[in-house]
Amino acid sequence: MAQQFASDNNAGICPQAVDALIRANGEGHAPGYGDDTWTEKACARIRELFETDCDVFFVFNGTAANSLALASCCQSYHSILCHELAHVETDECGAPEFFSNGTKVLLLPGENGKLDPAGIDRVVKKRTDLHFPKPRAVSVTQATEVGTTYAPSELRDIWAQTKSLGLRLHMDGARFANAVASLGCRPKEITWQAGVDVLCFGGTKQGMPVGEAVVFFNRELAREFEWRCKQAGQLASKMRFLSASWVGMLRDGAWLRHAKHANDMAARLEAAIKDLPGVKLLFPRQANAVFAELPLPAIETLKEKGWVFYTFIGAGGCRFMCSWDTQEEDVDGLVADLRAALAGVNSPR
Ligand SMILES: Cc1ncc(COP(=O)(O)O)c(C=O)c1O
Repeated sequence: MAQQFASDNNAGICPQAVDALIRANGEGHAPGYGDDTWTEKACARIRELFETDCDVFFVFNGTAANSLALASCCQSYHSILCHELAHVETDECGAPEFFSNGTKVLLLPGENGKLDPAGIDRVVKKRTDLHFPKPRAVSVTQATEVGTTYAPSELRDIWAQTKSLGLRLHMDGARFANAVASLGCRPKEITWQAGVDVLCFGGTKQGMPVGEAVVFFNRELAREFEWRCKQAGQLASKMRFLSASWVGMLRDGAWLRHAKHANDMAARLEAAIKDLPGVKLLFPRQANAVFAELPLPAIETLKEKGWVFYTFIGAGGCRFMCSWDTQEEDVDGLVADLRAALAGVNSPR
């Protein structure tokens, strides 16, 4: 079967996570609900990674992580500002509103899938009366839904704005690892040193079987978060099988290596197709996804050949997502088939 470029979720489990799971399982019985040594170790490794004290919780998926983290930032009469393409708006079935008992999500445009301070200022100042849901949080996605990244300075500018407006800053980091690998920065530079109150740190897309970490740098917001998780059905009884993968991934830097590899594969794809006639890249490629507009017959030909990719995510066009296990031959195979398909489209009949 052709390699999938549909989603980094579609890849299997990477060896470091498998190995940690096997080791955790080999130890027999252990206390449940997070009172085990794997969870303790995973929290410690995450604190080391961010070089600060922070409160860490493990939940099953990104929707829960985002929704519960945002709910901890807001009251029901508040609003959350995010980009119009943000996953919290487009792909979470209203969960952020549901888990916060009605907090309204307000959408902002922004170039390359990113918010900017002026846009935030405009929305917050547009209505300050009692009849409008009071803005309380800003949610940014790092890397963004369209495969771009916020530079540390861009985040610090957003922080300056949120601080002056009394807003909390949430980061959807489903692809945080890809952002760190792309920016070549330390994780702290794009989180707490840039004012992020809470980060949803993606595990699944890095190569774990399941689970995301919710990392509170603003520890006041973490108060009673375990009850919020439990009520939402997100407190794993066998928590060690969520946390063990993190220990395995963080032990020798596998989390960053895999992310860098996925980014490199996307860079290889981008370089190979960017100048092909009929191909228009839609966004600067800064992480592990390439977004491109292709002629419809070429899309159909690729799909007939078994290539799997989405045409409805983000701002439209084709999304080619690379994973920790994408191989150079997979990219080259896709490029060869795309070249052939375009030749068919472009040749005189
Ligand atoms: C930007 C972003 N945030 C969060 C998620 C996590 O969503 P899920 O609830 O499917 O784990 C995804 C998954 O595709 C995503 O792309």
